[in-house]
Amino acid sequence: MLKMANQSAGVAPQQVDAALRSFSLRAEANAQPRLFEADDALAQAPATRVDLVRLQGRSYTRYVNEFWTSRQRGGHSLHEISYRACFKAELPRFFLSVLLRQADGALVYDPFMGRGTTLLEAALAGARVAGNDANPLSEILLRPRLEPPEATEVARRLEMLRLDDTPPPADMDLSMFYAPGTLRQLLNLREYLRVRRSHQAEDAVDRWIRMVATNRLSGHSTGFFSVYTLPPNQAVSPERQREINTRRKQTPPERDVKGIILKKTRSLLRRLTAPERQRLQQAARTVLLMQDDAGNTPRLADDSVDLVITSPPFLNTVQYAQDNWLRCWFNHLDAASIARRITVTSSLEQWRDFIGQVMHELYRVVRPGGWVAFEVGEVRGGTLNLDEIVAPLGEAAGFVCAGIAVNSQQFTKTANCWGVENNTRGTNTNRIVLLWKEPA
Ligand SMILES: C[S@@+](CC[C@H](N)C(=O)[O-])C[C@H]1O[C@@H](n2cnc3c(N)ncnc32)[C@H](O)[C@@H]1O
Repeated sequence: MLKMANQSAGVAPQQVDAALRSFSLRAEANAQPRLFEADDALAQAPATRVDLVRLQGRSYTRYVNEFWTSRQRGGHSLHEISYRACFKAELPRFFLSVLLRQADGALVYDPFMGRGTTLLEAALAGARVAGNDANPLSEILLRPRLEPPEATEVARRLEMLRLDDTPPPADMDLSMFYAPGTLRQLLNLREYLRVRRSHQAEDAVDRWIRMVATNRLSGHSTGFFSVYTLPPNQAVSPERQREINTRRKQTPPERDVKGIILKKTRSLLRRLTAPERQRLQQAARTVLLMQDDAGNTPRLADDSVDLVITSPPFLNTVQYAQDNWLRCWFNHLDAASIARRITVTSSLEQWRDFIGQVMHELYRVVRPGGWVAFEVGEVRGGTLNLDEIVAPLGEAAGFVCAGIAVNSQQFTKTANCWGVENNTRGTNTNRIVLLWKEPA
């Protein structure tokens, strides 16, 4: 039986249950009710389906609905940085509103932050934030978006850079991706950023330029520095790129590196309001960013976190470091040593051990009355639901599992067809295990 949390301890499991069962109740329980009132799709959504699932001799409640609708470019423009296996901003946005009484002053943490979707969304809402990722690229991608410069400052800094001078020699052949003039500009920019960093002279504008350039290294349109390549930001190997060039009969075209950086800067900043900028700056002043193993984060204090919203590496073979080799090259990071620190396993046993350790660490850092929203997916063609592994692991670490929220987004709405159990095509499913640290 779940105990009722006292008011100061935050949102109680009963309130979360009510919020998930009913949109109107959820609107009351949440700190930003207008978020939901404004969204026609949610207002018209059918009631939540509630199932009882038996796992390891215990019943868990599963709530199925289209709790949020992920749309292309639906979140804040500042999120528009691609990263392998990132979740959409709507996911943390939903749980921030359901699991926090109020964002102001709360500490929100993501132990597997990736591009930092949770941290950015939480900071935009006024929360304090902390993040961790074994891949140092995460910090490069997130920190500058917590301290965004004005586009005019970026333009002025770019104007000062002499990117067409003779560059330092290239340490590898990148001619299959870049035209000679583009590579010259990139090598000069890379060297400028290296020197600024090594002289500890790097400022927020430099960090912003580094982040945008890192994001524009490879892709499929003229908005990227490279010749056409797919998928964006998961650089294929040089050999594979040569094959793509031969098949498409293409040679890398010259690109204007400064122009592309400025255009992407304006696009990222296009929805940023003055109050949001202030909230981000406030979060940047206290942010804690770590590059530890998620199962061992000693810099984060016991009982300090109000809400964790996260998604671990799934049980598969996504090679985050290898996908990012070009981004690592640009930032003088050693992709091979990063790869050794990133957990990649297709063994269910190993994955279970790893998540078990992470759960114990999360139990240590979450404060009594605090919450964890732990997102996992279906793997092995939908035959294995990782939420069913994660919920008992969370309980073994000391949490109370208040339920599993399944967001089933349908591309074509069909009455009474959720497509969750039978894995129907045309659905996009997130499974989020909700864990509560019961006050003593
Ligand atoms: C599914 S992604 C998270 C994406 C994130 N939710 C976002 O929106 O960008 C998982 C992340 O876990 C990181 N990771 C993998 N193993 C890790 C470990 N042992 N400790 C910390 N981070 C790890 C990867 O580098 C990757 O960024």
